[in-house]
Formats: sequence, structure tokens, C-alpha cells
Amino acid sequence: MRGRFITFEGGEGAGKSTQVARLTETLRSQGIDVVRTREPGGSTGAEQIRDLVLNGAAERWSPMTETLLMYAARADHLERTIRPALAAGRWVLCDRFADSSRAYQGAGGGVDAAFIEQMDAAVVGADQPDLTLIFDLPVEIGLARALGRGDASEVRFESKGQAFHQRLREGFAAIAAAHPNRCRVVDAQGDPDVVFARVQAAIQPLLTAVAA
Ligand code: TYD
Repeated sequence: MRGRFITFEGGEGAGKSTQVARLTETLRSQGIDVVRTREPGGSTGAEQIRDLVLNGAAERWSPMTETLLMYAARADHLERTIRPALAAGRWVLCDRFADSSRAYQGAGGGVDAAFIEQMDAAVVGADQPDLTLIFDLPVEIGLARALGRGDASEVRFESKGQAFHQRLREGFAAIAAAHPNRCRVVDAQGDPDVVFARVQAAIQPLLTAVAA
């Protein structure tokens, strides 16, 4: 049986990566074979593109160029990592995926939504996530958390300013509203245990479906 594909999305500092790690551990302890991966990246070629796109000045790439780079990375990641894992019955948990392109390059960067959907149909096609968790947090709290990490690398998007991040948050809310069957909005405020309880509640239907 094909594995399940779960993606984790949201703005900066929403605590997604911690939650992906925790869900990976929990599912493995239940005997589920999990591949934990991320975007941009997740395959050798896509990690090289990640390095290009996340480092340097905020204006290094236009939003259109970013979109093309993100989908180039995504094509490689799907071909080399995601599709083989799902075909082998493994579950794939991915820290960011195509909704980040819709939100960051589309809503945030102004790239035409219809163009992104055309790319998505060609590159992702039928391999859409079974479930997408969208971590939602007020922009000020997220940016304060992200900047508080004190890591000066990979900060191109963090450095884009408050108005950009507000468009992102609205973009993610619109994605959730447009895809109610696939997306669940998770309140990312509160300590990690509280947020993880929300994550577990959101994935319960997938576990029940597999057990049935
Ligand atoms: P990452 O270090 O994974 O950030 P975070 O901890 O916030 O997830 O960096 C990924 C960055 O790349 C993040 O700022 C969002 C951006 N991004 C896009 O702009 N478009 C995309 O399609 C993807 C996958 C990521």
C-alpha cells in the first residue's frame, strides 16, 4: 500500500521543525516507517539549490526566479526521495512543500497564482499531500522567535520585512480555505507539548484510515 504524505507549513518561527521531529518519533514508535525530509532540499541536487536560494541578500533573486528554483528543487526531491518512499509504503513527513511556494512566492512575492498552479500540475501532479498542517502564529511572535534563534545563515526570507510576512500569513489562511479537505490550521501558540497535542489530533484520521 502507498504510504501517506504529510506536509508542514507556516510562516517563520512557527515551530514546525520541532513538531515534524516529534511526530516522526511518535509514528516510528508505533511501527510506521517514516521518511523525514524538507524543502527546499531533501535530495542531493535539491539541497544544492537550497543553498543558492536561502543565502545572500533579500533581493538576490526575483520572486519569479525563486519560483522556478523551488520547483526545480521540488522535481528532483519528488523523483529521488518522495515518490520512491511512498511507493515502498513509507510515510513521508515534509517540512515545507508546495504551499510555501504559493504563500512566499505567490501571496508574498506577487507571482501569478495561475502560473504557480500550472507548474504544480506539471511537477507535483497527482502526488499531492494527503494532509497539510498549517502552523499559524501572529507575525510579530513568529519573527521574534525566528530572529531569536541567532543563526545568521539562511535568513534571506526572514529579512524581508513585516508587510511581506503579513501577506504570507494571509496567503496560508487562503490556501487552507481553498483546500479544506487537505489542510488543517494548527494554532502554533503555546508550549511545544500543547501544540503537539493539536498535531496528534489532526493526524488521527489518517491513522484510523490505515488501521481500517
Ligand atoms: P527553513 O530554514 O526551512 O525555514 P523555516 O524554519 O522557517 O521552515 O527555510 C526555508 C525558507 O524557504 C523559508 O523562509 C521559506 C522559504 N521557501 C519558499 O520561499 N518557497 C518554497 O517553496 C519553500 C519550500 C520554502
